[in-house]
Amino acid sequence: MGTSTDIAGFGLGLRSDHYGDLLAEPAPKVDWLEILTENYLVPGGPPLANLEKIRTRYPVAMHGVSLSIGSSDPLDMDYLRQVRALADRIEPAIVSDHLCWTGYAGLNMHDLLPVPHTEEAIQHIVDRVLRVQDTLGRRIALENVSSYVDYSFSSVPEWEFLSAIAERADCDILLDVNNIYVSSYNHEFDPLAYLAAIPPARVRQFHLAGHENNGTHIVDTHNAPVIDPVWALYAEAVRRFGPVPAMIERDANIPPLDELLAEVDRMRRAAAKALASRAA
Ligand SMILES: [Fe+2]
Repeated sequence: MGTSTDIAGFGLGLRSDHYGDLLAEPAPKVDWLEILTENYLVPGGPPLANLEKIRTRYPVAMHGVSLSIGSSDPLDMDYLRQVRALADRIEPAIVSDHLCWTGYAGLNMHDLLPVPHTEEAIQHIVDRVLRVQDTLGRRIALENVSSYVDYSFSSVPEWEFLSAIAERADCDILLDVNNIYVSSYNHEFDPLAYLAAIPPARVRQFHLAGHENNGTHIVDTHNAPVIDPVWALYAEAVRRFGPVPAMIERDANIPPLDELLAEVDRMRRAAAKALASRAA
């Protein structure tokens, strides 16, 4: 592929609405793009052709939703082979998916469901991450999900659960700052305690997004700009973890590219300010 493989700085989730703008002259100012893996698994066809053109301009990260790493179903080896073929083709800096399960007994719930935070689940997921990384021939990053329910038999907090899996499986963490905020609101924990427990060397990428607050709980909709308390938490994350590649996710109410690039610029400024205050 035509441009560097590694990512740094400030990115955006690639959405088909913006293919044209991203291929226009001059190239829009965004440092890298994250693709939804499942949209490009078919070898050939317009989506992959567009992606390959865009890839000559921008480094990319691959982000999947189908790994179901927490499920008790066997790993889908066919899916993993397709992911590997795509990764070999477009050379992403990062391949990520979620710390969740999406189905059971072959039934796909099309939702990112939380796993119970137990030692048994840690061991189960570590074993699976090791096999996934083996099959893909590269490390993966696992993302913390937003959750709305918890299990009464969970024995450790989510931040310990995520950290233990990353350390034992030797994988990376994609820290979604909005998801930490959403879950801290829904489950009434301190989001700063979450950040403080995550090992900095594991944090490979940040996500930021908007959501819907219904008063009693927040639904993680990715349909709006990032809100101020999430910007504040992002500043804390940058102070703790440093200049980690960060990006904006928008999956609904997708605005013109310029509007999202303005939000990317806001992220750039917020990170610079946080890094300056950290240095001071
Ligand atoms: Fe995310």
